[in-house]
Amino acid sequence: MGFKVAVIGATGNVGREMLNILEERGFPVSEVVAIASRRSQGTEVSFGDKTLKVKALEGYDFSDTDIAIMSAGGNISKEWSPKIGKQGCVVIDNSSAFRYDPEVPLIVPEVNPDAISGFTRKNIIANPNCSTAQLVVALKPLHDAATIKRIVVATYQSVSGAGKEGMDELFTQTRAVFVADPVEAKKFTKRIAFNVIPHIDVFMEDGSTKEEWKMVAETKKMLDPKIKLTATCVRVPVFIGHSEAVNVEFEKPITADEARDILREAPGCLVIDKREDGGYITPIESAGEDATYISRIREDSTLDNALNMWIVSDNLRKGAALNAVQIAELLVERGLIQPKKKAA
Ligand SMILES: NC(=O)c1ccc[n+]([C@@H]2O[C@H](COP(=O)([O-])OP(=O)(O)OC[C@H]3O[C@@H](n4cnc5c(N)ncnc54)[C@H](OP(=O)(O)O)[C@@H]3O)[C@@H](O)[C@H]2O)c1
Repeated sequence: MGFKVAVIGATGNVGREMLNILEERGFPVSEVVAIASRRSQGTEVSFGDKTLKVKALEGYDFSDTDIAIMSAGGNISKEWSPKIGKQGCVVIDNSSAFRYDPEVPLIVPEVNPDAISGFTRKNIIANPNCSTAQLVVALKPLHDAATIKRIVVATYQSVSGAGKEGMDELFTQTRAVFVADPVEAKKFTKRIAFNVIPHIDVFMEDGSTKEEWKMVAETKKMLDPKIKLTATCVRVPVFIGHSEAVNVEFEKPITADEARDILREAPGCLVIDKREDGGYITPIESAGEDATYISRIREDSTLDNALNMWIVSDNLRKGAALNAVQIAELLVERGLIQPKKKAA
């Protein structure tokens, strides 16, 4: 059994990782099609040891495609996902365009796999924001054990979360600093090299940013609407890997040792927590890895039933491409999708 899979945004950071992960995990494909904008038509991307010629999204016919994994930004998704869905192709969308639509399931397979069955209403499944994905993977098993009341999180988000242009800007500015050239900020609102910026996505009326709002809305949708969450999202000069300093208040008592034991057994989680020099994870070590890493688990002495922890993951993998491929795997495992073209 093989599926025809289209990767839309195949030339981007997430799209390239998507192709790597489909191949690495041996997703059952009959054909993989790489799709991007007209600018990239005819250029080549790798899929395992094969090279795929990129096709343009404009005018592409999805009627014989089984799954389209979209990572071309919110506006492209708003325009194209419903059209592709109507052609009978299931869209797994990486943008925020449909995440808050009650008719579109927002899925992290380790957290709320059963919600996937709702995809048939629009033929669209949403992938969460990178900073939410790793947070809920680590917090779901603790919520099951002790019921989370409130989360306070500060994020340290890498520049790859802002696409190819974000990575290029950190590289160019860093080089400019070393050769004493003028430092220009285009993608980010201030210089990112040797700096941190407490601003990701647009400002909301209450003074928070959309990135912070997304963490609240997505955690409620996937984990529990009763959980209160407050976030400060910060861009840092790291190429790959988002980190989060998290304070969690629970309804029931839970010790750091108990949390560590629960997380050691939890799907998608890896505990690295040695309480010694280097006995914790940093983003550079998470790059290219699938796990959500949890370090620095400790009790908060200022509050009953509260823990502090440090959560790190590769934002291009669990935060985007890996989670999308896991959603595709879930569709197949649960028999929710059949290939349109039967093998001869
Ligand atoms: N980076 C992350 O950590 C992360 C995490 C979660 C979700 N996401 C989401 O994933 C999406 C892509 O992110 P990225 O980091 O991969 O961005 P990126 O590196 O800037 O890549 C953007 C991709 O979209 C394609 N594209 C742009 N305009 C298009 C059009 N008109 N028609 C078809 N394709 C078009 C680009 O193709 P060309 O090369 O032809 O321009 C490129 O392949 C965004 O929605 C983002 O919010 C990203």
